Amino acid sequence: MEIGIPAESAGRKTLVAATPETVKKLVAQGHDVTVEAGAGECAHYTDDAYRNAGAQIGDAAAAYGAQIVLKVASPTADELPLMKPGAVLAGMLDPFNAENAERLAAAGVTAFALEAAPRTTRAQSLDVLSSQANIAGYKAVLIAAHHYPRFMPMLMTAAGTVKAARVLVLGVGVAGLQAIATARRLGAVVEASDVRPAVKEQIESLGARFLDVPYETDEEREAAQGVGGYARPMPPSWLARQSALVHERAKEADIVISTALIPGRPAPTLVSVETVQAMKPGSVLVDLAAGRGPVIDGHRGGNCPLTEPDKVVVTDNGVQIVGYTNLAAMVPADASSLYARNLLDFLKLIVTKEGALNIDLADDIVAATLLARDGQVTRKT
Ligand code: NAI
Repeated sequence: MEIGIPAESAGRKTLVAATPETVKKLVAQGHDVTVEAGAGECAHYTDDAYRNAGAQIGDAAAAYGAQIVLKVASPTADELPLMKPGAVLAGMLDPFNAENAERLAAAGVTAFALEAAPRTTRAQSLDVLSSQANIAGYKAVLIAAHHYPRFMPMLMTAAGTVKAARVLVLGVGVAGLQAIATARRLGAVVEASDVRPAVKEQIESLGARFLDVPYETDEEREAAQGVGGYARPMPPSWLARQSALVHERAKEADIVISTALIPGRPAPTLVSVETVQAMKPGSVLVDLAAGRGPVIDGHRGGNCPLTEPDKVVVTDNGVQIVGYTNLAAMVPADASSLYARNLLDFLKLIVTKEGALNIDLADDIVAATLLARDGQVTRKT
């Protein structure tokens, strides 16, 4: 089949949906791959490398004109009309964004939003949320270390001893676990909190301390089990106790990394304004939920209401709040490489070994990710 790899625009432009490695495999499978000129430039994959892997280099129209278009983010209003009705589009298409799903359906494309894949063992190799969140968790710690005015590790020097940084990680899914591991490698003392009880062992196995907020009612216990591996909103009684504990621990912390998300809903508020006011001068909050929190006074923060998307806010008491929204794109070569492999594995589900398109809705991953087809939105957004 013809496979097109357009260049990304807007916030994802450092990323690319195929690498020379995955192009080589697609070509070996008999596909005809067209990469838009310069598509891999920011991720350091040159046009020559794609050519050597067997791709043709073309313009945007050639890449979008293919039967299958592999993208990182949804095509923009200018890009979408370049696709042919009936063509397949696979990418991170924001499955809970109803307006975007309507737009893709109206263009007549068969769209797959890979973020909607179930969190099952079979789906692991194409799990884009995991591959990108892993990178975000790593980069969050490096960014925190960059802004933090002290060392991370404990150091004994001739000029005296430096204390290890205290890091608090809130939300311990894929990003949170990688943040803990990275902070530990840099020598920090780490504590972490999550609603899901299953993470306690994972936190402790990485050498961090689990901050326990015991459940007091069956309602709290049941909500904490989540659904499909994801968190559900917790009852206000539990959130109030968690908030009090976070307040106490954040006062002692040098770095807070918050990653808590609830699919299809605003991210929970975990670091209140009062908590930020109680934090130490020079401390750093990296809020991975930036731009995804509840709208408060017309402003959408993250796990902290003071977070501003894509900005570093310095509060009156000297706390730096980092709200970058696309941390994976700051590690473009590996973020693209892992993402491209996710897509390669996804294609195996919709393209037969003989190279024909076969959209089998009996396959739970195909059914869950199909966002639009034949002019209709096929997924509940
Ligand atoms: P996420 O990005 O949706 O959320 C991040 C974390 O925030 C989650 O651990 C969530 O429990 C936590 N959170 C939500 N509300 C919170 C609150 N009020 N306080 C504290 N923490 C809160 O999560 P992610 O990283 O996408 O992982 C979701 C689940 O999927 C996890 O159980 C993970 O182990 C599982 N998973 C399974 C995979 C597979 O089997 N294919 C692959 C990757 C993840």
